Amino acid sequence: MSTSPSLGIAIIGVGGIAESHMAALKMTDRAHLVCVQDMDAARARHVAIEQGCRAVATLDDVFECAEVGAVIVCTPNRTHEEIGMRVLDTGRHLLMEKPLAMTVEGAERLAAAADDAGLVMAVGHSHRFSAQSMAINDVIRSGDVGEPRFVRIVMNGGWIWPGWQAWVLDPELSGGHALHNGVHLTDLATWWIGEKPSSVFAVGQKVTSRALDIADYLVVQLRFPNGAAAICEVSRAERPRQSSYLEMTVVGSEGVVSRSWDADGIRAWTEEGMAMWSPAGTSDDVFVRELEGFVDAVDALAPVVPPVVVAVDAVRVATAAELSLRSGRVVQLQGGLR
Ligand SMILES: NC(=O)c1ccc[n+]([C@@H]2O[C@H](COP(=O)([O-])OP(=O)(O)OC[C@H]3O[C@@H](n4cnc5c(N)ncnc54)[C@H](O)[C@@H]3O)[C@@H](O)[C@H]2O)c1
Repeated sequence: MSTSPSLGIAIIGVGGIAESHMAALKMTDRAHLVCVQDMDAARARHVAIEQGCRAVATLDDVFECAEVGAVIVCTPNRTHEEIGMRVLDTGRHLLMEKPLAMTVEGAERLAAAADDAGLVMAVGHSHRFSAQSMAINDVIRSGDVGEPRFVRIVMNGGWIWPGWQAWVLDPELSGGHALHNGVHLTDLATWWIGEKPSSVFAVGQKVTSRALDIADYLVVQLRFPNGAAAICEVSRAERPRQSSYLEMTVVGSEGVVSRSWDADGIRAWTEEGMAMWSPAGTSDDVFVRELEGFVDAVDALAPVVPPVVVAVDAVRVATAAELSLRSGRVVQLQGGLR
């Protein structure tokens, strides 16, 4: 355990996901919330009172707080590149909500800025920190199921967005569903296969309403240079609306590891038989692990998770999926080992 002083954090954008980061900040002594900023000043003030921190009016005000050593950016996707560049320019470490940026060029620009400044930049690929995702990864890395050949991830749920005006539904602001939500699944699949995909093909539907500008039901297929493949299915169009259906399967050359739709536990089976277990943890732990991993990286105790180059690739894959959705074609990428 580090003896470094608690890291002072500012959060920019205090809407939905900021709640999870603020809850995580309360559950660790490695970091503390110094101030919040939001373009909706009343919301920032309200949150500051609830959290017992300061509300500041502008980004410049955030950077004037000497106690702020790192910034968590929880604003809509289109703002990430500009706000992230400002954070890095002022010498603060950055925990950027996913996706890192709306374009590969934007993601690479942020990566280069963090690297030049010697700052930690982590991207909130939070599903990597769930107990079940980590357990599946541990089984794969143990070698028990052999070389991963096929991944299937299904993350289907009902409509969660606040209304038809929600920024998420505007591809200009969110980048579309493949970038906004699909990026979680494609990141998990590439993590587990352990290679960069060589091609992406996506099919989408507008199930809730044909008037939608995004596909609320999406299937993304990835191919990898070693012949492995992944199918990622993500929906916000399920009925009943409160449904939440999660399935994760990795088929390896020597066995299978799976989290089936009706169980919280993980099963792995090989020629030797079946193992089952229930990784402990709640969704709250996900953001605590993500935050503590970030602080570990700032304290030089551990590498950034995911590595910056992987977060840039996540944007590459997700934007390719968006392109495939629009064109109806397979999009080829420069795949290979990282
Ligand atoms: N890791 C996850 O599982 C997860 C889940 C949901 C959202 N997200 C990501 O978190 C980010 C925020 O999503 P959300 O659902 O919390 O959105 P939200 O709309 O609930 O909140 C966004 C907040 O940012 C504020 N804002 C907008 N533009 C701003 C600007 N330029 N400067 C300062 N404040 C600004 C808004 O007023 C709002 O309070 C997005 O990047 C999204 O992709 C991640």
